[in-house]
Amino acid sequence: MYNSRISGLGMYVPENIVTNDDLSKIMDTSNEWIIERTGIKERRHIKKGDGNSTVVMGVKAAKIAIERASIDKDDIDLILFATLSPDYYFPGSGVLVQELLEIPTCPAMDIRNQCSGFIYAISVGVAMLRDGYGKKCLVIGADSMSKLLDWEDRSTAVLFGDGAGAVVLEAYSCSGEKEDRGILSVDLNSDGNYKDILHVDGGVASKTTGYLRMEGREVFKHAVEKLARTSEKAMAKAGVKSDDVDWVVPHQANIRIIQGTARKMGIPDEKVIKTVQDHGNTSAASIPLALSVASEAGQIVKNDLIVTEAIGGGLAWGAIVL
Ligand code: UT7
Repeated sequence: MYNSRISGLGMYVPENIVTNDDLSKIMDTSNEWIIERTGIKERRHIKKGDGNSTVVMGVKAAKIAIERASIDKDDIDLILFATLSPDYYFPGSGVLVQELLEIPTCPAMDIRNQCSGFIYAISVGVAMLRDGYGKKCLVIGADSMSKLLDWEDRSTAVLFGDGAGAVVLEAYSCSGEKEDRGILSVDLNSDGNYKDILHVDGGVASKTTGYLRMEGREVFKHAVEKLARTSEKAMAKAGVKSDDVDWVVPHQANIRIIQGTARKMGIPDEKVIKTVQDHGNTSAASIPLALSVASEAGQIVKNDLIVTEAIGGGLAWGAIVL
């Protein structure tokens, strides 16, 4: 049987650093409040004239992932692009990456599942490779959250950053046993009843781009509960226990959500990868960015058992054991 494993990781964040003090000059907030309530110290925002966009950042991350996977870009069989902030309504970001990287004809598509988009994209990639769509899949998570922020709303404007992460997923034949490497299990969930607590209030219907709107306290409550539960379900599917886990790579939205979820899962804080302090919430880019940072820092190494989880607008949430 075939399974998929990650053979290359890449990341990109814009050079423009926006600190909490920078934000406190343009809105009624403070470094102390932001750090205490979110753990965020700074984030990166695309700057006018720097040439970046969701797709451009995605391409920069993808090039690194392809190089680190030691593959030829011509061998990519499938492109999946997770984003909530595509450059255009259409064409999708996936085909724009295909054009910019000059990847020959192959399926390319966007996954529109907000902060959990990367988890969804990986699971789509694993399923498609298993179904015979090819051997190599490029999965990108990228978002330009700064373009959707309402600078009059301090409860959301301080939380988000821009960036991109990418992985190369490769199919390999395995025995189907617990000892297999790669993606071991996936758990996905969504519930449209909560569509209003986190959304962008624009779109084709209103002919506006809109702004991100969030009932922060409500989302917070759902996040800890649902992230712990989906992680436990993914661990049960993979047949592993909390003690077996080397690292949790959580969606980087808020340090209190990250730590509350890990506590519920019975995972000690020192096994939790944290990048929220440097990037803020980068939505679909959050997990591949955190994986890249942790891998580059030598924290995550080959054969580590990792649980990664995310929740976002929809609500949509899920977890992967790899
Ligand atoms: O990817 C998933 C999406 N997002 C999330 O996971 C975020 C989930 N939610 C959160 O992270 C938190 O709810 C927030 C960080 C958004 C807010 O933290 P909180 O502890 O839930 O604060 P709160 O909304 O209960 O607000 C407390 C106070 C309020 O003042 P009053 O009404 O008590 O006087 C807010 O107006 O903090 C005020 N406040 C701020 N003060 C300074 C809200 N935003 C700010 C701010 N600076 N930026």
